[in-house]
Amino acid sequence: MSTSKLYISYIRKNIIMSNFKKKILITGGAGFIGSHLLRWMVGQHTDTLFVNFDQLTYAGNLANLTDIENSSNYHFIKGDICNPHLVNWLFDKYRFDGVIHLAAESHVDRSITNPMSFIQTNIVGTVTLLNAAKHAWKDDFAGKIFYHVSTDEVYGSLGAEGFFTEETSYDPRSPYSASKASSDHLVRAYHHTYGLPIKISNCSNNYGSYQFPEKLIPLFINNIRNNKPLPVYGDGTNVRDWLWVVDHAKAIDKIYREGAIGETYNIGGWNEWTNIDLIHLMCQQMDKKLKRQKGTSAKLITYVTDRAGHDHRYAIDANKLNNDLNWKPSITFEEGLDKTIDWYLANEKWMNQITSGDYQKYYDKQYEQR
Ligand code: NAD
Ligand code: TYD
Repeated sequence: MSTSKLYISYIRKNIIMSNFKKKILITGGAGFIGSHLLRWMVGQHTDTLFVNFDQLTYAGNLANLTDIENSSNYHFIKGDICNPHLVNWLFDKYRFDGVIHLAAESHVDRSITNPMSFIQTNIVGTVTLLNAAKHAWKDDFAGKIFYHVSTDEVYGSLGAEGFFTEETSYDPRSPYSASKASSDHLVRAYHHTYGLPIKISNCSNNYGSYQFPEKLIPLFINNIRNNKPLPVYGDGTNVRDWLWVVDHAKAIDKIYREGAIGETYNIGGWNEWTNIDLIHLMCQQMDKKLKRQKGTSAKLITYVTDRAGHDHRYAIDANKLNNDLNWKPSITFEEGLDKTIDWYLANEKWMNQITSGDYQKYYDKQYEQR
């Protein structure tokens, strides 16, 4: 099939495939976690070619990857994981040894207002990738890996006690988590039915640099800086377990290389915070950094109507990953939050380009299309 029919667009780069021992497809690499994963893996594994396949939705931003865009083992291709022709073409062209699948619609609030795009990308897109991998690898699954990156939200909502383990029954409660749960089930079904070599991880809430400012931490940092209200949903007592995104990226790399086929690993920070305590910590740190009088930022806190179906508490038991693969978070939350706030304050241009919508023009300037 002619590539023009597939609407391929890419950065012009001379990729010599024989230079690489392995080729890995990363989907959603222009998003928050995907860009950190690429930054980490491209630097660590120079004998591996990483092909970043991303549709560049509102959440995908190539400015997240400027520091690696010229690396010889990194290549970007724009496209939709729901397009079977394009996805099959990719597998055919690059002969991937593995896939790390992160592309998704990822924001719970958007899933409440527009569930269909979550069903399409998170479910249909995942099956499209599974079919392409199954087809491309049909002659020999040996050494191949289909790694699906998922969320702890598939397990539902906890009361005051207990943790999600890998054995916890699925009980998703938002369109986002239901679509991710569905994709997890399909990935497992392809393993059990066809023998596709899969791995899955379910991670808690990530925070760090390059996160789209619709999620709690970057949104609130930006609002505090701009003296805008901080909309706390409900009474602010919902609990999340927060993990520094770089630690998530390192966990994914470790599981990809050392995790067992067919297994699931929970990834978490052993770091639970009620939203309101976290928001007060952010306000305190921001007051210091912006040299504002103590208590200034907290005055921006505004209680608003609760999110529909708001899950009360998520908490991960990550002991399997710790015991089997010797992984644990590298920094404390206070350190991580401090670094994160510093990054957003130092990268005002990145934030302004997002809030003005200008980041979406970056692709047109940098990349060729055919
Ligand atoms: P994100 O929204 O920041 O990025 C998603 C990326 O996927 C974007 O670059 C977007 O352009 C791309 N994408 C969306 N639809 C696509 C499509 N149809 N085809 C190709 N690309 C498409 O998300 P994130 O926070 O980086 O999350 C990445 C993955 O990790 C998701 O699967 C998410 O469910 C999972 N996860 C996220 C968190 C978290 O706290 N952010 C926690 C656990 C798991
Ligand atoms: P979010 O970052 O959207 O992640 P998730 O819903 O996947 O956990 O939200 C984190 C928590 O913060 C969640 O309990 C909802 C709450 N929240 C607010 O109180 N106000 C906000 O403006 C946002 C975006 C989230």
